[in-house]
Amino acid sequence: MKVLFAAGESRWPAYEAPLRAALAEAGLDVDLVRDAAPGTVDAMIYAPGGETPDDFTPYTRCKAVLSLWAGVEKIVGNRTLTQPLCRMVDPGLTEGMVEYVTGHALRYHLGLDRVLATQDRWEPVVPPLARERPVAMLGLGALGAACAQALAGLGFPVLGWSRTPKDLPGIECHHGRDGLKTVLSRAQIVVTLLPATPGTENTLNAETLGWLPKGAAIVNPGRGPLIDDEALLAALETGQVGAATLDVFRVEPLPLDHPYWAHPLVTVTPHIAAETRAVTAARVVVENLRRLSTGEPLLHLVDRTEGY
Ligand code: NDP
Ligand code: OXD
Repeated sequence: MKVLFAAGESRWPAYEAPLRAALAEAGLDVDLVRDAAPGTVDAMIYAPGGETPDDFTPYTRCKAVLSLWAGVEKIVGNRTLTQPLCRMVDPGLTEGMVEYVTGHALRYHLGLDRVLATQDRWEPVVPPLARERPVAMLGLGALGAACAQALAGLGFPVLGWSRTPKDLPGIECHHGRDGLKTVLSRAQIVVTLLPATPGTENTLNAETLGWLPKGAAIVNPGRGPLIDDEALLAALETGQVGAATLDVFRVEPLPLDHPYWAHPLVTVTPHIAAETRAVTAARVVVENLRRLSTGEPLLHLVDRTEGY
């Protein structure tokens, strides 16, 4: 089987050895290449900004495109891609996201910004306990569910929201438009871990931000288009939203003249919430190559109609 690594020159040094090790561990006979005639490629490893083709038509033998990214909005709409597309569900990436989300949620919960800003005076403000601080988790997929469970483990009451009904131990799960209102109207911290699709665009907008208790904090490591930026800036202005940590943006890198950079209530992180980790991700890719070779169903297949 010939597998083309089309996830970019810069990633190759980090991925080559883990991929070869995982292939050897799985006993798979794979010709892993950086370049190949399109008609000879059996599977492709992809990442946005890599060297993935715009036109998949010449890849006549290619039976799967395996994304190194969890979010597939940059490729899912490509009409020439008729092959199955698998997204990344990587234990290493999930660990990183859990750390990012719990870290920023605890920062807002404990009022750490206030603590750091009052290092010149004795001004005791005791935060409530986590169990008194409801958190909304918008998205209960691989990442949202893991983060929701970590936050619940710390004692936060977690209200989860997804497209389809879910039943997760320790999480109060909701779905649909009414579910969103229920979840947001109780949340003092909101985490957005939804994919970017037409159905999720502007999930947080002027109306839905208005459902939040005044002063709620937002943590968005999902995707930029989940938030109507104008509406968020307006809600920060009125105090309806108390603070926001944003890792992802409609345009990345975030332009230097964007109001988020200088906003005192906004923390910008440069799309680093969670990165796919080569060693753990290589095993996921190789498991799918193994499945491809035996004709077993692939893991983490993207639903092309839903867009994630
Ligand atoms: P999943 O596909 O596993 O989960 C997506 C979740 O979103 C599901 O619970 C799904 O509902 C829900 N959802 C999708 N559409 C809607 C909708 N219209 N209304 C309500 N809920 C909806 O994705 P992951 O958890 O793996 O990843 C989530 C996103 O995180 C990625 O798509 C990516 O954008 C982002 N990400 C960001 C990173 C960063 O570093 N900033 C790193 C990695 C990922 P249902 O369960 O019903 O299908
Ligand atoms: C991803 C990301 O989708 O890093 O994997 O944002």
